[in-house]
Amino acid sequence: MRMKAAVLHAQGLPRPYARTQPMRIEEVELAPPGPGEVLIEIAAAGLCHSDLSTIENQRPRPLPIIIGHEGAGIVRALGEGVTGLREGDHVVALFVTSCGECRHCARGRPNICGASFDARAKGTLMSGARRLKRLDGEVVNHNSGLSLFAQFAVVMRDSLVKIEKDIPLEDAALFGCAVMTGAGAILNTARLRPGEEVAVVGLGGVGMSALMAAVAAGATRIIAVDTSQAKLDLAREWGATDCFLAGHADCAVAVREATAGGLDTVIETAGSIPALELAYAITARGGSTISAGLPNVAAKFAYPHAALVSEERSIRGSYMGSCVPRRDIPLLLGLYQSGKLPVDRLKSGFVSLEQINEGFDRLSDGTVLRQILRPNAA
Ligand SMILES: NC(=O)c1ccc[n+]([C@@H]2O[C@H](COP(=O)([O-])OP(=O)(O)OC[C@H]3O[C@@H](n4cnc5c(N)ncnc54)[C@H](O)[C@@H]3O)[C@@H](O)[C@H]2O)c1
Ligand SMILES: [Zn+2]
Ligand SMILES: [Zn+2]
Repeated sequence: MRMKAAVLHAQGLPRPYARTQPMRIEEVELAPPGPGEVLIEIAAAGLCHSDLSTIENQRPRPLPIIIGHEGAGIVRALGEGVTGLREGDHVVALFVTSCGECRHCARGRPNICGASFDARAKGTLMSGARRLKRLDGEVVNHNSGLSLFAQFAVVMRDSLVKIEKDIPLEDAALFGCAVMTGAGAILNTARLRPGEEVAVVGLGGVGMSALMAAVAAGATRIIAVDTSQAKLDLAREWGATDCFLAGHADCAVAVREATAGGLDTVIETAGSIPALELAYAITARGGSTISAGLPNVAAKFAYPHAALVSEERSIRGSYMGSCVPRRDIPLLLGLYQSGKLPVDRLKSGFVSLEQINEGFDRLSDGTVLRQILRPNAA
């Protein structure tokens, strides 16, 4: 079938993207779903900083490629052997696909399954297939097995979690990355308990989701840290008890003073080394610094090794909120439906395919949280 899509043809183009147009809106050919694959119509797809990092060439990818990895839609066709889904079902799409066979899958950690890392690096689906082509026949790569900045997508069945039809798809889309990553860092990776204290460094779509999950988990003190005063003001409205402006030398000192030597749990959701350094500096003796931010692939973090040992500190990564999609998406949607995780507030407006490059200018400026692409809206 033919459809409209935003095709990323070059990485690392200068800003403004509204002028340089790293993504071109093109008609492309999408092949029908193969065995184990599903065709979905994209209702909504969020603009995540990881997409911006791909546009900026922080992570080289095979080109041309269709990016977009946070979304929700409607099942339109099933490939051979697909079970548990029917045409017309509403689904959230996540980039976590897994082989089900390796030791990580066996231990309930599908988010770090090696097979899906390989497929992502090659620009294929987990099945090894590529289903996208330009009209002149040139193959177009898949991004994270999803490629949601398009009217339709063919994805693996296990990239999809079925959801109830009364959940607005524009809200459901956020659960595909921002909410799963931020809330998952708090609930799964950190396993935050009622009464505990936490700091979140970096208050974008991911960090604000972490903040809301900390409120839902019953944290008594939630410290919000960002370089933007506007984000701090929002964080306070949404449950942060203390706010600190980052980007100057005294920030870590101020947080350590306010918390009698730092916090047991600090989540970094900014995606930069200065942010991780700050997160580490405000972690208490015996505490954990959990990083969910994704900087340039070559970026390195230095820490005082002797103090890591003598203070029994830990530094952990958190990838897609340490999720098991079919376990966690219904759980988080339940929190949202009961008003305990009001992530619909993360939406900063809607864009069409034609406006997507400008959308990434705004994300890069830091003036928005989650903009939602509606590729099929009239
Ligand atoms: N671990 C994962 O699975 C996963 C999933 C999604 C996104 N990410 C990554 O998470 C990060 C955040 O994504 P997002 O979409 O929320 O981004 P965003 O651009 O919406 O938000 C980033 C926030 O960090 C703040 N910030 C920047 N530098 C800072 C500093 N030095 N100190 C404090 N705050 C600082 C910015 O002001 C902004 O509010 C990105 O690096 C993204 O690639 C990781
Ligand atoms: Zn993302
Ligand atoms: Zn596996």
